[in-house]
Amino acid sequence: MIHLAPTDRLFVLTGAGVSAESGLPTFRGAGGIWRTHRATDLATPEAFAADPQTVWQFYSWRREVHETCKPNAAHTALAELERRMSGRMYLCTQNVDELHERGGSQRVVHMHGELFRSRCSARCGREPFVDRGVYNALAEVPRCDCGAIIRPHVCWFGETPYFMDEIFRMLEQATVFAVIGSSGVVEPAASFAGMARHRGARTYYLGPEAPANATAFDRWFEGTAAELVPRLFSL
Ligand code: APR
Repeated sequence: MIHLAPTDRLFVLTGAGVSAESGLPTFRGAGGIWRTHRATDLATPEAFAADPQTVWQFYSWRREVHETCKPNAAHTALAELERRMSGRMYLCTQNVDELHERGGSQRVVHMHGELFRSRCSARCGREPFVDRGVYNALAEVPRCDCGAIIRPHVCWFGETPYFMDEIFRMLEQATVFAVIGSSGVVEPAASFAGMARHRGARTYYLGPEAPANATAFDRWFEGTAAELVPRLFSL
């Protein structure tokens, strides 16, 4: 069990594994997206500059797959935990899906962006906006008011994740740090556990396989997110 005292501040980081039981593919596990697709052709600013149509076809496919998925027991249990911890829980996700929100979470920090948001590719200053569109041809891709093509509001390889100042602040305050379903190979998220532990937090990993950064965790709970999350946290 992960015991949470009334004074504890919990930082939860989720990865693709938390949505696996909802039917969304992970990236590096069996059947993972990067096993069948080349990240360098689909998830870099260079790839988008070279071939925006193919990149949009990829994100349109992911939007369509997402529309067939529902939150699982891990998503709903985290929403319940957020409610019961009343402000002492911080939920940061590497996922671009919206299953945490659909599971009832009120505050979800998407450090890698959101699948159903787009923004101007020319950074004309327009804020990212909600976009559930599916674009399989370049001619279908909307233009920003400034005339530039829009792009998915997703953090691509080589780009800086979002909300990093706030995330570092919350890492400093955490007394308990838990990661659910992330392979621990992508930075900066892979370093969060070590940073939290260095500041004295208890650190836990929840997932079926040992992550690459396993040494940063005090304890690994082996199992799936939907099995573990509803029963592991005790207040
Ligand atoms: N429950 C919990 N964990 C699971 C489950 C499950 N049902 N199924 C798989 N996992 C674990 C796997 O063991 C794997 O370690 O989830 C992890 C998923 O790892 P990745 O596919 O590497 O995903 P993630 O760590 O979230 O990727 C980080 O990389 O591709 C980029 O930007 C993308 O946000 C992503 C980042």
